Amino acid sequence: MSKDGIKPQKDLEPGLYEQIPHFGWMVAGFVVVVLAALTFYLTRHSYEHVAQNKYVGPGQCKKCHPKQYESWEKTRMANSFSVLRPGEKAQEKRLAGLDPSADYTHNESCIPCHSTGYGLVGGFVSIETTPNMAGVTCESCHGPGGSYAGTVMALDKPEFKTPEARKSGLVYPPTEEVCRICHNSKSPFIGADYKFDFVERVKLGTHEHFQLKYEHGR
Ligand code: HEC
Ligand code: HEC
Ligand code: HEC
Ligand code: HEC
Repeated sequence: MSKDGIKPQKDLEPGLYEQIPHFGWMVAGFVVVVLAALTFYLTRHSYEHVAQNKYVGPGQCKKCHPKQYESWEKTRMANSFSVLRPGEKAQEKRLAGLDPSADYTHNESCIPCHSTGYGLVGGFVSIETTPNMAGVTCESCHGPGGSYAGTVMALDKPEFKTPEARKSGLVYPPTEEVCRICHNSKSPFIGADYKFDFVERVKLGTHEHFQLKYEHGR
């Protein structure tokens, strides 16, 4: 073999030597372009589909709704992930038959109600990777924002109609049914005698309510 291992081939018929690699590159190039286009087309579509109901986190809502955010931040629900930590609410846990020294922050039977969008696109995964989705956030009550925040609902079209926004996933106004997704007897803290006065609870636990500037219809 010669130094570079190719040289002897130069002695082949020059036309053939030049043709084969040239044609080969063209085919390879064509295949690569087609595959790239196909991949782009397919992933772009699946992404758009998934993005329809993507959770975006309360930080996105804060940009346009700072007053609701500041008020919500102080509620028990906003901070309801922390009660899963060991030592928190020890007396209440004992009464509910739970171990107060146990760490429930990674317990799959607690997380769905003490975080937002668990197991869903953009939703809570773990306290380490998605701390902004811990607790009951805006989207637990108003629906995943990926489909409406900044698109149907935007600063340059503040007069959008509620039914239009609802079509893209906004939950408004949230009804008692929305609260009942979590406020039900699957919670170890909710017994048979549990009462849920919706009007009273909205005042007590959601956020301060402000008059909107525009009429959106219901
Ligand atoms: C780019 C700005 C923007 C973002 C981001 C945004 N909103 Fe809005 N939102 C608006 C505007 C503008 C209005 C209408 C305000 C008015 O009439 O005073 C509105 C109204 C609303 C309403 C009342 C709807 C109705 O039909 O009456 C709700 C509920 C709401 N937003 C929730 C959210 C939530 C939850 C998020 C985060 C997922 C969010 N918004 C993100 C701009 C935004
Ligand atoms: C079906 C939803 C749901 C599940 C599952 C759930 N919780 Fe809760 N949890 C709630 C709700 C709703 C409340 C508030 C009840 C109320 O006061 O109205 C609550 C309240 C609590 C409180 C506060 C009690 C108090 O009196 O201050 C603690 C602590 C708690 N949960 C821990 C847990 C732990 C630990 C688990 C898992 C073993 C769990 N939760 C599973 C919905 C749930
Ligand atoms: C994603 C689950 C979830 C949804 C949806 C939800 N909640 Fe809660 N809620 C909780 C959990 C968990 C707590 C317990 C927080 C804690 O004590 O740390 C709680 C606590 C509360 C509290 C405080 C309890 C008290 O006695 O002071 C009020 C008030 C409340 N929720 C009202 C509502 C209302 C009204 C709705 C519907 C508009 C609603 N919640 C929807 C999970 C939820
Ligand atoms: C526990 C449920 C719950 C959570 C969490 C929640 N909201 Fe609401 N939100 C409501 C309810 C209930 C209404 C009142 C609907 C009505 O007027 O009947 C409301 C109303 C609104 C409105 C209309 C104007 C107003 O102030 O009443 C906006 C805007 C809004 N929410 C934004 C947000 C944002 C932003 C967050 C998070 C920072 C958030 N909400 C978190 C339940 C919730």
